[in-house]
Amino acid sequence: MPTIQFVSDLHRDFYPLGKNLAGLYKSYLNPKADFLAIAGDTSNCFDTCVKLLTELGKKYKAVYWVPGNHDLVIPRKNYEFIKNDSITNSMNYIFAIQEELPDNVHLLNGDVIQITEKTSIGGTIGYCDFEYAEKILKANQSDVWLHWQRWYDAVHIRLSRSDGEALWKMQLQKMQSIIEQKPTIMMTHFMPHYSLVHKKYASNILSSFFTFDGSNLLSDMHKNSGKYWVCGHTHDAFQKNINGIDIVCNPFGYPDERLIFGKPSDWTYSIE
Ligand SMILES: [Fe+2]
Repeated sequence: MPTIQFVSDLHRDFYPLGKNLAGLYKSYLNPKADFLAIAGDTSNCFDTCVKLLTELGKKYKAVYWVPGNHDLVIPRKNYEFIKNDSITNSMNYIFAIQEELPDNVHLLNGDVIQITEKTSIGGTIGYCDFEYAEKILKANQSDVWLHWQRWYDAVHIRLSRSDGEALWKMQLQKMQSIIEQKPTIMMTHFMPHYSLVHKKYASNILSSFFTFDGSNLLSDMHKNSGKYWVCGHTHDAFQKNINGIDIVCNPFGYPDERLIFGKPSDWTYSIE
């Protein structure tokens, strides 16, 4: 039976070759399965992202990937940083990477692709619904927006040129459209349930920007005979069933985290 390996948060830039974790990194990305699905945060650099995905395309029969928030700050080819651009333009830019990738490496941007006769995968980056802080932390909305502006403007992209709510609506529509097409596997970088936020970050208002309440999406996917939802962002690995769907997060994470946690999980799944 064919198999698929789920990973995320490869953060290739943090693992220069020749350093002490390079061997572990390489072994993590050697095939344990026929197919590979990557749930975002591949690299902060255009060339590195292309190189890594091209290498992986040679190792696996096919690779499926969605971008993560790190991929959105990827420098343009001439290394002019995209930092001062809007989120929407950043997303459009990352999709240009696909033109440089081999035919068996597929960027999922609302698409559903057949992997085998009976198994399909759909995906998109996803986004946040901005409600975690209000509903779980009882924070007031103006505080949430203030933190969102400061986080994105300082670390990522210009809020003044972005419309967060419009972006969420667009991503929600994409996820709904994917699920209507009844994929076996769904993939987003952002976490599709508030309960997936690690307890270490549970009281942090910034957690609101990386998760959404996907309860209805999960239920709909279950009704449509879906099996797995692969996500990333958080750097702790977990497998958790919510509303009938097995949610899988299997990140590589940063070097200091690998030194603490050791070898990452070799989770693979049989597909029909
Ligand atoms: Fe990450």
